[in-house]
Amino acid sequence: MSKRGAKLTAWHGLQNCRVPVAVTCLVGILVLSILFFCNNEKSPDSSFGYPMKKWNAFESVQFHPTIELRNGTDVIWQIPSSPKAILFVAHGCNGRAVNFWDRSPSCPTCVGLPEERLLVLHALARKFAVITISSAGRCWTFGKEKLIVKDIIQWWTQTHNHESLPLVALGASSGGYFVSALATSLRFSSITLMIAEGMFDQMGITENYPPTLFVHMPKDSYRQQKISEFTGVLKNKGIDVAEVECMEFPLSRSFLADRIPGVDETVSAKLFELFQAKGFVDGSGYMKQDGRATQWKEALRQSKNLLLDKSLIQHVQEELNLAFAYHEMTSLQSEQIFKWFESHLN
Ligand SMILES: *[C@@H]1O[C@H](CO)[C@@H](O)[C@H](O)[C@H]1NC(C)=O
Repeated sequence: MSKRGAKLTAWHGLQNCRVPVAVTCLVGILVLSILFFCNNEKSPDSSFGYPMKKWNAFESVQFHPTIELRNGTDVIWQIPSSPKAILFVAHGCNGRAVNFWDRSPSCPTCVGLPEERLLVLHALARKFAVITISSAGRCWTFGKEKLIVKDIIQWWTQTHNHESLPLVALGASSGGYFVSALATSLRFSSITLMIAEGMFDQMGITENYPPTLFVHMPKDSYRQQKISEFTGVLKNKGIDVAEVECMEFPLSRSFLADRIPGVDETVSAKLFELFQAKGFVDGSGYMKQDGRATQWKEALRQSKNLLLDKSLIQHVQEELNLAFAYHEMTSLQSEQIFKWFESHLN
């Protein structure tokens, strides 16, 4: 039954109520009305069942990563006090390990992209040690690179005496394919494949394959269809599998300042006004196209009085892609992701 239908039925029910049950009916109507209005709420803070954290939401957690070179690539990691598990994160194409960590004296070349950094902060706050590794090329490859990453993770766990800790992995896009394949040769307690359907049509899997969470953006309908197909494949093997859908949401004047360290309220509001003036967003603030397909950088160049630090272009672009919700790294579902990992630690 639709929500509106449920509400109408409740109204008809009330007309038939006798006095003693009228109160119960009223309470029922109140609950239905609350559900009805909450589900129609369009504010980005409350409409998706998860809070939209601000960039500085984790004041108790500080970035102080260690950078190492191993097998010709960079490995950046951090261990919280009393870690309960280890999280390996694989970036998408064009990604790098430096994107996951804020620039700091311990990582002067770090970039700290908004979603990547919040994902790591969530992980550290929940006592997951985090290892990020850069792919050798633009995207991950599925031959020797799997061996290299496996070697790096095993070397790292041995060096830090954490071989007994559960190991989990999250990969986004190309990193999602990579993690899905790596999971056949390295034992993960569970994995999260973000905006990626995995390689399940190109590899055999056994009942020992780890529990798999798909975090995806249904606007990408081709991928959504693949994910429902592969969900069936995994379930047929008796593997625990679930999905989390990430939906579009409207921009606001404060959105970019809320999400990106270094973008202040004024710049954030001016950018939003520019996007409105140029018709990049609709009347409700929703992006009309993916950030990559929107000519916002040209518009920015033409508007002389709007100063956005060049080093933050990539950060803004990421948030625009996220709001459009077609294909982007996301930390907004961190609560569900870490609950998934935590409910499968063994
Ligand atoms: C990675 O480096 C270690 C140490 O140098 C080496 O023993 C190992 O064979 C390398 N792994 C691969 C797959 O090349």
